[in-house]
Amino acid sequence: MAKEILLEAVGLKKYFQTAAGQLHAVDDIYFTIEKGTTLGVVGESGCGKSTLGRVVLHLLESTDGKIIYKGKDITHVDKKRLRELRNEMQIIFQDPFASLNPRMSVRQIISEPLENGGIRGEEREKRITELMTTVGLAERLGDSYPHELDGGRRQRIGVARAIAMNPDFVVCDEPVSALDVSIQAQIINLLQDLQKERGLTYLFISHDLSVVKYLSHQIMVMYLGQTVEWSDTEDLFAHPLHPYTQALLSAVPVPKVGQKKQRILLKGEIVSPINPKPCCRFAKRCLYATEECFAGPPKLKEERPGHFVACHRAKDINQIDK
Ligand SMILES: Nc1ncnc2c1ncn2[C@@H]1O[C@H](COP(=O)(O)OP(=O)(O)O)[C@@H](O)[C@H]1O
Ligand SMILES: [Mg+2]
Repeated sequence: MAKEILLEAVGLKKYFQTAAGQLHAVDDIYFTIEKGTTLGVVGESGCGKSTLGRVVLHLLESTDGKIIYKGKDITHVDKKRLRELRNEMQIIFQDPFASLNPRMSVRQIISEPLENGGIRGEEREKRITELMTTVGLAERLGDSYPHELDGGRRQRIGVARAIAMNPDFVVCDEPVSALDVSIQAQIINLLQDLQKERGLTYLFISHDLSVVKYLSHQIMVMYLGQTVEWSDTEDLFAHPLHPYTQALLSAVPVPKVGQKKQRILLKGEIVSPINPKPCCRFAKRCLYATEECFAGPPKLKEERPGHFVACHRAKDINQIDK
């Protein structure tokens, strides 16, 4: 069966004007996501992950580049189409507590997106009850308030809100980063079950490569606003090509007993995203940087089948035939 691409980003950019200059929060992002799969987006804090998620959802306007959704360019849409897209594309936030109205009960919170979608009366009450069951919230919690619940249950409310209007696509922005490790797996399993049952497509953002590995079909590694590597999850872990990805991977614990890995510690200066120079943004921290890395920006190239990397030295350091 032919693969159906649900979402594509082509050279997507988002710049913010700041007092110190132009801040390149998202600066040339490329990916495609197949329907029903998960693209994991990893990178350290401040590299532009949340901005990317918001631009894709039209919560922020892009500066340049294209967003293609179901084969159509949705970079610029009118108000009517935007309203439709608001139902089809949803977001789950990192901190459920900050994103939930403290004065509303669980049922009221879940009711909101349904009401906005024009679902009222008995039908709405029925849907709220169904949604609570779907996300694993006991019916008796319906009249509780967010502060009376633990982090895991609060995030279940966030999930219920996101899926209330049957979206096709959900941005999960660090949805488990604020949760206890013991609860993280429950929420990840819930997201995976929902994907299987409803054919949902996810853009799953995390600073933690081990979380992303578990549920992503593909992974995109970001560094200072840019795609530095993008591949199937398996190939990324088996053959990480970018020195930054290699450093990230060296910090992921190895599951096998007795197996040791040399951890690569990143030293050197993190360059500012404000008015960045046209060169490799990772060069100052890179073990392999040469003059060419400082002379111009690297291009994203397919160095293995379906495996893209933006690094001047990728061929040399990975012994890829030239
Ligand atoms: N509204 C804004 N105005 C100016 N700068 C912003 C704004 N939002 C985010 N940024 C900056 O953009 C960069 C990326 O931020 P963000 O997308 O939140 O990163 P991440 O989610 O990866 O931690 C950071 O340097 C941040 O300070
Ligand atoms: Mg963020």
